[in-house]
Amino acid sequence: MATPTIAILGTGSYVPTRVLTNEELSKKVDTTDEWILTRTGIKQRRIAAEGESTSDLAAHAAKAALIDAGLTAADIDLLIVATITPDLPMPATATIVQHKLGIGTHAACFDLNAACSGFVYGLDTASAMLASGRYRHALVIGAEKLSSVVDWKDRTTCVLFGDAAGAAVLGPTRGDGARIIATKLYSEGGMAEMLCIPAGGSANPASTATLAGDQHFIKMKGREIFKVAVREMEDAVEEILEQHAMTADQIACVIPHQANLRIIEALSKSMEIPLDRFFINVDRFGNTSGASIPLALDEARRLGRVRRGDTTLLVAFGAGLTYGAALVRW
Ligand code: COA
Repeated sequence: MATPTIAILGTGSYVPTRVLTNEELSKKVDTTDEWILTRTGIKQRRIAAEGESTSDLAAHAAKAALIDAGLTAADIDLLIVATITPDLPMPATATIVQHKLGIGTHAACFDLNAACSGFVYGLDTASAMLASGRYRHALVIGAEKLSSVVDWKDRTTCVLFGDAAGAAVLGPTRGDGARIIATKLYSEGGMAEMLCIPAGGSANPASTATLAGDQHFIKMKGREIFKVAVREMEDAVEEILEQHAMTADQIACVIPHQANLRIIEALSKSMEIPLDRFFINVDRFGNTSGASIPLALDEARRLGRVRRGDTTLLVAFGAGLTYGAALVRW
């Protein structure tokens, strides 16, 4: 059997309705709109409602992606949810999303933890599984309710994150040239402590002491991560272009992880890719981790920034530290 060529057949996204502005945040912690905007480019972010969980956000995005692909839940036999904010420590949020979407028991459903690189990791995993011929159509979802793990007393992190979901349907190409050209993943596990949630796992189980010590919230060495992020994304972009004998001029649109406008600007400068070829929505949604790239990708497509025949470059970095890139033709 010939190896099928895999393409993204549709995308969808969802953001909660509640908008949290910098102005509002400056009433909760010692910060200002000016500080947040100049250091990060973020103006506002979305916050999920109480009772709205990651699987709810994921299911909304997935439904939109299925419609865009012209498929239904019955067509899906592989479901991956990339998230660091699962509904529960177990079972996998993917199984909960499966039930919400009405996907049958024939489907393999699992979560993937690669933090902000989760969607690129999911694309790589799903496209390899589909290319094996053992699965036909996959839903890859990046979904996060980061507001549930942010320390709202810590001004160094709480201004950065938001809630959202984005999804893509993958399957055999429909003969229009669309395909996932390449994916490349990396990890630097020695830097795991730079960005983590210290407690709640087997190394440091939840206890009254971990709760009292605010150990269930995101802890981050922001300044160090900034430098590493730019270097990692540069490496990922250079290598994937080189391996596929492509140049930056052939990329119609870069969809970077939306963590900080200054990181995106630094990448644009060092890679000599003009900033107007980067799709940027960090100003409106902040850093939504695993949801960041699929949300931006879906918006970019809907706004006509990604057109048929275009090649897009997705590039991510996140906790782990994980990083990676993907080249996708539409
Ligand atoms: N409001 C006002 N002041 C703040 C603040 C806030 N929300 N957060 C931090 N500060 C203060 C710091 O306390 C520090 O004060 P000091 O000089 O008196 O010590 C000062 O601002 C500068 O802090 P610094 O951390 O050096 O700022 P920065 O320019 O590096 O910007 C980040 C901080 C977090 C925005 C930036 O480092 C960043 O984006 N890093 C990458 C983080 C990231 O991408 N994480 C996700 C990975 S997926």
